[in-house]
Amino acid sequence: MTAPLWTAAEVAKATQGIGSQNFHASGVSIDSRTIEPGDLFLAIKGPNQDGHDYLPQVAARKAAAAIVRRGAIVPAGLPFLEVEDTRQALYALGQAARARSTARIAAVTGSVGKTSAKEMLRLVLAEQGSCHGSAGNLNNEWGLPLSLARMPAASRFAVFEIGMNHAGEIRPLSRLARPHVAIVTTVEAVHLEFFNSVAEIADAKAEIFEGIEPGGAAVLNRDNPWYDRLVETAKRQGVARIVGFGKNPAADARLLSTAAAAAGMDVQAALFGARIDYRIGATGQHWAMNSLAVLAAAKLLGADLEAAARALAGATALPGRGAQRSLPIAGGSLLLIDDSYNASPVSVAAALDVLASLKPGSGGRRIAVLGDMLELGPNAESLHAGLAPEIAGKPIDLVFLAGSLMGKLGEVLPKKLVARHEPNTSALAPHVTAALRPGDAVLVKGSLGSKMSIIVRAIEALAIAAKAG
Ligand SMILES: Nc1ncnc2c1ncn2[C@@H]1O[C@H](COP(=O)(O)OP(=O)(O)O)[C@@H](O)[C@H]1O
Ligand SMILES: [Mg+2]
Repeated sequence: MTAPLWTAAEVAKATQGIGSQNFHASGVSIDSRTIEPGDLFLAIKGPNQDGHDYLPQVAARKAAAAIVRRGAIVPAGLPFLEVEDTRQALYALGQAARARSTARIAAVTGSVGKTSAKEMLRLVLAEQGSCHGSAGNLNNEWGLPLSLARMPAASRFAVFEIGMNHAGEIRPLSRLARPHVAIVTTVEAVHLEFFNSVAEIADAKAEIFEGIEPGGAAVLNRDNPWYDRLVETAKRQGVARIVGFGKNPAADARLLSTAAAAAGMDVQAALFGARIDYRIGATGQHWAMNSLAVLAAAKLLGADLEAAARALAGATALPGRGAQRSLPIAGGSLLLIDDSYNASPVSVAAALDVLASLKPGSGGRRIAVLGDMLELGPNAESLHAGLAPEIAGKPIDLVFLAGSLMGKLGEVLPKKLVARHEPNTSALAPHVTAALRPGDAVLVKGSLGSKMSIIVRAIEALAIAAKAG
């Protein structure tokens, strides 16, 4: 039997909770909808919901126990601990998980590519020892302590994603995670809504250095214009080692070249002075860049570099983050690039690069279906129009646009490129599906709030109809 994640005594000690029943928890949850049998549930009061209202469901789903505020009414049969503040209890549990851990720990932040790089690092580390990691996109004030609290005591490695919308958010999270290695994937004009400048964004990312363990390392994008500023802050914070990745000849993890390969791409690189070649199961320069940060971090965490590089062959783009699928349609098939989860100027440019590098099937075209990039602040319109050279300068045949901001792009693109612009994806979807033909390569990209998944589902429905017919 594997050791329980938490015993009642350990939880009581960590959270200073008061309760008398014994239990063993195999997981930790703050969401009654996704709670698993055996989980420890923390009843948290959020802006809209109060977890205390869901304790009957939590009991019915066979939670091991609940942490509740003093005086809460708990259903019979559900062991519980009372605390002053359940949110603090979550932090305390994360802190206790960190304190007892001997894992080598990485934290990943950056304007774009956090989840992609985190998953890639998990993939390569998991082959070399038990590796814990944040699930999905759990990177904020709730997600990070929760992810820490879920870390098994015996983990050899752990990888946490840390995100932010405002200055001051990353500092406490990094101090909680206390990483040995912190990656900043890149600094870009993303989430500008709550910042006056990209310099401020760089400084907010740099807060991650404050949590780095003594003797630890920062892995930074050598090609990014904010590199020097980040290095300065890292040094000021006493970060022992700074490792740059990128194309810059001075980069410690240096990209030499990439070439398209059967299922992904071949990368030639130099890491810490030694040549290393490997295959990644995904295409795009941004993947090559992320892989360099991942390999540098893996090495700094004590993993075997050659084995880590070999494992990258299994790294594929995640659903909604560039995953490619061949789908049957009447008369043949098309290639769908599903990048419907997230969009910012830098990630749209990266996705358009991928589209341009793909070879459509016979008779097929390269088609981009783009939805609004959200949270860009006051320059949102010009940032949308600014995508025009990224499209017009590439072998892209047709563009479909959804949303008022993408309308600004439509105004400046050559008219023959713009097949259709609609205010939203529901209105756009039938125009896209009507235009598609065998051999097409179709990129679907936009912010989550732009509901690009409606387009993805409409294209999938074509495929299902083709199969049935
Ligand atoms: N280094 C990078 N540069 C540009 N775009 C990237 C990079 N890494 C990933 N992307 C793309 O950015 C989008 C968001 O990726 P994701 O990993 O979810 O980022 P985050 O977790 O930072 O929001 C995806 O379309 C992904 O393919
Ligand atoms: Mg993410």
